[in-house]
Amino acid sequence: MWLRPACAVQRLAVRTLHVSASSTQRAPLTLNGIEHPTDDYTNIPASILRRVHPAPQLPYLDGQPLNLLRTEIERILGPKYESIRAPSPVVSTRLNFDELGFPEDHPGRRPSDTYFVNRGTCLRTHTSAHQMETFRANHLRWLLTADVFRRDEIDSSHYPVFHQMEGASVWDEAAFAPGGSVEKECEAMEAQLAQAQMEIADDVSLDEAGGWQPQHLAQSPRAAELTVRHLKATLNTLVYGLFQPRWAVESEGGEPLKVRWIPAFFPFTSPSFEVEVWFRGKWLEILGCGVVQQPILNRAGLADKVGWAFGLGLERIAMVLFSIPDIRLFWSEDRRFSSQFCRPADGTLPLMTFKPYSKYPPCYKDISFWLPGSFHENDLFETVRDCAGDLVEDVACIDQFVHPKTKRESRCYRVNYRSMDRNLENEHVNALHAAVLDRLRREFRLEIR
Ligand code: DAH
Repeated sequence: MWLRPACAVQRLAVRTLHVSASSTQRAPLTLNGIEHPTDDYTNIPASILRRVHPAPQLPYLDGQPLNLLRTEIERILGPKYESIRAPSPVVSTRLNFDELGFPEDHPGRRPSDTYFVNRGTCLRTHTSAHQMETFRANHLRWLLTADVFRRDEIDSSHYPVFHQMEGASVWDEAAFAPGGSVEKECEAMEAQLAQAQMEIADDVSLDEAGGWQPQHLAQSPRAAELTVRHLKATLNTLVYGLFQPRWAVESEGGEPLKVRWIPAFFPFTSPSFEVEVWFRGKWLEILGCGVVQQPILNRAGLADKVGWAFGLGLERIAMVLFSIPDIRLFWSEDRRFSSQFCRPADGTLPLMTFKPYSKYPPCYKDISFWLPGSFHENDLFETVRDCAGDLVEDVACIDQFVHPKTKRESRCYRVNYRSMDRNLENEHVNALHAAVLDRLRREFRLEIR
């Protein structure tokens, strides 16, 4: 989510990985047969380009836990929600940020966090990038699934490509009338939830959640209130449907499932919330949601509608539900992975736990260097990922000090190379690591110690 804490290291200048520093005569980039000009923001390495369509779409593949999860969410929410498969991940920054109300200085807009094709075009960083177009195409109730791209750290739960599902439901005034369809649906869902083995903590004040939007207060307070009620009933139903079967097994049927609503902030909703589930001893963040900012619906040609939206990360949930220990496994083509995720004949979500098929030995290599004037950790992570692909398991900063005299800062990062499906030869790892060091020296002028 965008709510993660700001990176400790401030990015001072924009690094471009594949385009020369001169501002003219940069090679265009062809993505999905469309040629895009490049500029000083272009920062998509080859390892990511390979993942841009027409790459395989995991949530639609057989033997994919993400496919099982997507279809289970669609089943729980039911056929009223249109299932939409997202188009190409190459989107305008207008759709990804501007239309959604992201301020100019939002960290998500930085090339340290986002992959840019050029200043006006990026790889979508979230499925919310498709809200505007989807509403404009007059889809009123939908679930849209897509791959999203973010520059980030490397560990067992972060991968630069992952998958999100965006959901939305909007209605016109008549539906909000007393006894109208929204109220009826709320009552039906609430009656079901009242029978559920679930404890819902929801004492978020409206102020904490960002308050009602001025247009709703002035014109449609009842619609906004019912929207929140419907949003809560829908998402409580979803969370219960997803987690209860597993929870019942793990808690041996003893305790109710615990869900809590907490206040949040998103530029494109108000009020805004996050939903968390208590699972294996901690609160797990499941999704972000809220009442769609009315100007978005107005600009999409749906000025007469009010409604809600949510967004969730599929890997995060699948890793918990199926006990998948490493996010790289989703990309594995090993039959030992996919054969475990076949759909049962009755179409339900299998209540299964992933059986790790092996753990090959790790191989640690350190990178110590003096920090140059401008450097962002994500550049280092990206370089390692680009050279070593899925053979890198994690990269962590293990030491950091400032030289007392020169005041220069030194850092040491430890790279853990480990394959998911074979033993890595020492020579192979040495060659990979040498390539990493070489690129760090050449492209970022890192003074390796
Ligand atoms: N796009 C948000 C993210 O990636 C998630 C999100 C939050 C989507 C709230 C929504 C929403 O539709 O209403 O962090």
